[in-house]
Amino acid sequence: MKIETQVVHAGDRKRGDGGAVPSTTPIHLATTYFYESTAQLDRVFGQEEEGHTYSRYSNPTNEALETLVTALEGGFGSLATASGMAALQIAFQAALLERPHRVLAANAIYGSTVKMAEQLFMPFGVDFSYVDICDLDAVERAIADKQPGCVFMESVSNPLLRVGRIDKVAELARAAGAALVVDSTFATPLLVRPLEFGANMVVHSATKYLAGHGDVLGGMVVCDEEHYETVRTLARVAGPVLGPFESYLTMRGIKTLAVRFERQCENAKVLAERLATHPCVERVYYCGDPVHPDACAIKHLFTPGMYGGILSFEIKGADKAGVMAFMDRLKMIVAGTSLGDVHTLLLYPTIASHRDISPKMRERMGIRENLVRVAAGIEAVEDILADLDAALSTACAKAG
Ligand SMILES: Cc1ncc(COP(=O)(O)O)c(C=O)c1O
Repeated sequence: MKIETQVVHAGDRKRGDGGAVPSTTPIHLATTYFYESTAQLDRVFGQEEEGHTYSRYSNPTNEALETLVTALEGGFGSLATASGMAALQIAFQAALLERPHRVLAANAIYGSTVKMAEQLFMPFGVDFSYVDICDLDAVERAIADKQPGCVFMESVSNPLLRVGRIDKVAELARAAGAALVVDSTFATPLLVRPLEFGANMVVHSATKYLAGHGDVLGGMVVCDEEHYETVRTLARVAGPVLGPFESYLTMRGIKTLAVRFERQCENAKVLAERLATHPCVERVYYCGDPVHPDACAIKHLFTPGMYGGILSFEIKGADKAGVMAFMDRLKMIVAGTSLGDVHTLLLYPTIASHRDISPKMRERMGIRENLVRVAAGIEAVEDILADLDAALSTACAKAG
């Protein structure tokens, strides 16, 4: 089945309870389950027979979502978690469990992932170092130097939209015995499928494109065969699993992922083209830019003709106050945080996603004070443009 069909059908049972149409997977709120006999309960607990025992271990609604996302990413199995950060934590722990406690991470990633490294892993002796993941010679040298147990990258980096060669990084990691974990939140399986390029685990903030409507906090870890049992065991003991209601909403969101994402990609393309010639815009970052520094990787990894629904741009002459005033003037676009929703979202990394990291680190990542990120929604693109244009023109006039 093509991915546009999988989003609608994968994970569904053939016939729902009481003959219900299968695409409305029920929300199973029960935390415990009945058995014919204690002997059967014993078999299910012992994993000799399929079934559910307790919702921290598994749940039928979560299982349907996990089956769906596993199919979309081409994985062996997956875990639905309470947030994208919980998914990252589990993935790092699974990667490092039987490997050296050293992570080599891309140097331009989501700010909270850097914070997680500093506050959750480094205090327990895990070493984190950073490398330009788009410079394969530098990656090779860093792997030889650091001997990491885990290499980490985002399939499309946040917020500068750099794209590293997942396939080449996977080869280098595998040769050194390290696991490759890829955060593919920005890409979705419609744009890139990292497991097909050799990654061991793919992480999503399901809060974003997968759920897609700004009403769910969730995450996914999609695994190869080697890491699946470890991921499930870690979840069983730590318990950061997704609630069944959120699972239901995420599945319901995924049914329309293909049509939403296609429209978001189209809108982002138009926005990037128009903003590139806007007098108040200094520079646009967009994966479809013909002179994108990672154009070769994009051609190799991305679904042909798609470049994602996100772009970032720098406002000419704007300081922090100028950017904030620009945001205040937006009327329709939601200026806050997050991405991947049906409505267009604008984020200011300096005060949001990358707020908690030092200005020096931000500078090293190339995130300037006048940079904003736009996650295109599914509205009419003329309305998005008109909102941006009105707010920008005032910003420009103010900057002189
Ligand atoms: C790339 C990326 N990864 C992970 C996360 C964390 O996801 P969550 O907020 O669902 O915990 C985010 C959130 O913005 C993100 O942008």
